[in-house]
Amino acid sequence: MKPLIAANWKMHGDMSWRDKPAEFDKIIPRANRQNIDVLICPPTPFIAPMVLPAKRTDIWLGAQNCHAEQSGAHTGEVSAGMLKSVGANFVIVGHSERRAGGETDAGIAAKAQAVLAEGLTPIICVGESLKQREAGQANDVVSAQLAASIPHNADMKAVIIAYEPIWAIGTGKTATPADIKTLHAHIRKIVGRATRILYGGSVKPANAHSILSTPNVNGALIGGASLDMQSLAEITQAVA
Ligand code: PGA
Repeated sequence: MKPLIAANWKMHGDMSWRDKPAEFDKIIPRANRQNIDVLICPPTPFIAPMVLPAKRTDIWLGAQNCHAEQSGAHTGEVSAGMLKSVGANFVIVGHSERRAGGETDAGIAAKAQAVLAEGLTPIICVGESLKQREAGQANDVVSAQLAASIPHNADMKAVIIAYEPIWAIGTGKTATPADIKTLHAHIRKIVGRATRILYGGSVKPANAHSILSTPNVNGALIGGASLDMQSLAEITQAVA
């Protein structure tokens, strides 16, 4: 299974960041990463301007969210079809920062369904809170999220799961290799062999190798450390 190194830029950057793919490519030329998929999910306005720079450097582009419907009276929203039309191939759905704002598993499943209907790849995020982990509920929380946020009848080759323990996102705290191994094995049992499972939460060059060489970890979803191309490149180079 080809590993995926996915950058989630969140609400960072400006138009000058369209040059970041070229900057990344200088550090690791595409010939040296043919066995790894690299994806950047910039803020939506920068997707279209980045299409050419990303294509030239063999980097995929994705979005960080979409609406579940194709069109309609939804002020401020963007549909999966619109994202596809400007050049996105992947869409992150159900990130914990959005779940914290009220997104439900059912709503996330509807978004993932809309992404699949356009022939794009949803990256469905799951993960427990610190309170849930301390109560010994991490496996159960993740199972319930997977059951309710993966669309029924989805082709499991066509979806990607990102396991992101909420307490590890943007905090500098990373789950231990043992925690990651346990949770990823648990997710693997549920989703089967065909699905890529990413780990996310404070992934950085210093911990990337140990995380990426953990069984059932097929890549990483990276926030903070993905804003700097040198650190994104070092994480990419850490793929086992
Ligand atoms: P982080 O974010 O790498 O800054 O912890 C990960 C994410 O939210 O996807």
